[in-house]
Amino acid sequence: MRFSYFLLFFLSVLFSTFILTSAETIDHNWWQTALIYQIYPRSFKDSNGDGIGDLNGITEKLPYLKKTGVDAIWMSPIFLSPMRDIGYDITDYREIAPEYGNMDDFQILVKTAKELDIRVILDFVPNHTSNESDWFLRSVRREPGYEDYYVWADGIPDPNMPDVQKPPSNWVSNFRGSAWQYSEERGQYYLHQFTIGQPDLNYREPRVHEEIKQVLRFWLDQGVSGFRVDAINMLYEARPEDFGGRYPDEPRTGIPGTTPDDYNYLKHIYTRNLKETYDVVYSWRELLNEYTKMHGEHKLMMTEAYADVSDLIKYYGNGNRDGAVPFNFAFLGDIHNTSNAYDIKLVIDKWMTYMPSGKTANWVNGNHDQSRLATRHGSDRVDAMNMLALMLPGIAITYQGEELGMTDGYVSWQDTRDPQACDTDPVHYALSSRDPERTPYHWDSSDHAGFSDTTGRTWLPLADNYVTLNLAKQLSGRSHYTFYKDLASIRKKNATRYGDLETKAISESILVVNRLLPGSPGIVGIVNLSDRDQVVNLSSLRLLPEKMAVVATGVDCSLDKGMPLSKAYLPISAHCAVVFETLTNCC
Ligand code: GLC
Repeated sequence: MRFSYFLLFFLSVLFSTFILTSAETIDHNWWQTALIYQIYPRSFKDSNGDGIGDLNGITEKLPYLKKTGVDAIWMSPIFLSPMRDIGYDITDYREIAPEYGNMDDFQILVKTAKELDIRVILDFVPNHTSNESDWFLRSVRREPGYEDYYVWADGIPDPNMPDVQKPPSNWVSNFRGSAWQYSEERGQYYLHQFTIGQPDLNYREPRVHEEIKQVLRFWLDQGVSGFRVDAINMLYEARPEDFGGRYPDEPRTGIPGTTPDDYNYLKHIYTRNLKETYDVVYSWRELLNEYTKMHGEHKLMMTEAYADVSDLIKYYGNGNRDGAVPFNFAFLGDIHNTSNAYDIKLVIDKWMTYMPSGKTANWVNGNHDQSRLATRHGSDRVDAMNMLALMLPGIAITYQGEELGMTDGYVSWQDTRDPQACDTDPVHYALSSRDPERTPYHWDSSDHAGFSDTTGRTWLPLADNYVTLNLAKQLSGRSHYTFYKDLASIRKKNATRYGDLETKAISESILVVNRLLPGSPGIVGIVNLSDRDQVVNLSSLRLLPEKMAVVATGVDCSLDKGMPLSKAYLPISAHCAVVFETLTNCC
């Protein structure tokens, strides 16, 4: 008896030592620690000189992304569209927009990516189509089967003017003005939570669910590894049946300065985050799971919603139903250029606290809807924020150009393309325009920044700092890009992939991120947010081995890579973001 206990103890020690020293045996799926690079196809690389980025341009640059250390690309929509919302208004979910290429180009892209071990993730826009889509045209005509594909409603008679019909409710579009548009042909209003050209699909109609699932299947059959799901929390609206037969008005927020045309004028209690949404996500997860089994590769789903964390975490799943990875936009909304180390630590800890156990975290530093990192936080925080996103556990998402510290470009009213800005006026457009973060990528300092060799104009103007701020200039030496590339490779180390996380705000300006895994060297990132040099003493982190070496340095660091240091004395210069690896194994 005693012998068998001993044997059991011996075997379990042997087994755990084996697991902890050989990380290859830890069965983590590719996506759980993936570095995902968001490509905005129109602005990434133009291969045919028309001033618009395209699929062949992306394929051409895949080897570069591989060298950078990217695991997957997510492409903003590449489908047939009149481009009123730059591709988020889809005419046909199964066709490629001609300015981006064709299906052959897409297949070459996927094949090339596979050869390089880069996964391809598509943007999936289930909330709305274009008003030029066949489904919508049929619905307008009330063709049998299509009558209820969209959210249609009668207008409300105006008591003062009997001949005039008012929209069915006071709902406001995300892009300003009434969310209802009258269709003369059908004699009813349709709902559009974004532009007039983006009618909302009706998820109370079972046929829509089936139709949309076929779209997922179509692209999974083409070999994609997953989807980024657009505007997920807009899928459902309150039902008129529950409100005496009409869509209920939303209450006012009372935010000073807002007018009835502003989205923030109303509390969106009937048009956002409805509980019905989550079941749809879980049902898509089930569909994706079928393909995970068939293809032997996890199919990823990430959902886009700007919502409270308590609503967001419901996307992860519910009891025995698995869901998606909800984008964590806290770095975009909750951290500002004046946030100190305490604030940033709390933001990180909040997600880790709310996230259900066993799920995968994610960190987003930018996207095509948000002002760029360098513009939002200042160039001297670019390295710090990239370091955090890439060193924290889970998925890191980088929007193209954030690895260079690209800034927002200037786009005049005449050149403005974003409908959110076009729906305002020449005086106020810049406040809501998303064009500045969508200007073409800076490959080098040649004409059009190496983005295009067009003899005409690029679809959006380039940011004028491309001559000094571009990839070619950053490929060597100390740069945002070389730091980013080092981070991407450090990310592949055992401690950064599987290690425990400890965040520590040593002071207002010093933030430490510690990743420790027994049997592996520890990885420690330190950020100095202040404009004075400081010496950091990490002796209080007792599990952290004593000696370490510098493995990555941001542009503002005076330390050099390879320098050995003691944890008790770490000189960190102003605005420096730096990563160390311990010289002995933890712990
Ligand atoms: C998402 C997209 C945004 C688009 C909107 C409507 O928020 O990221 O670019 O305008 O959905 O599809």
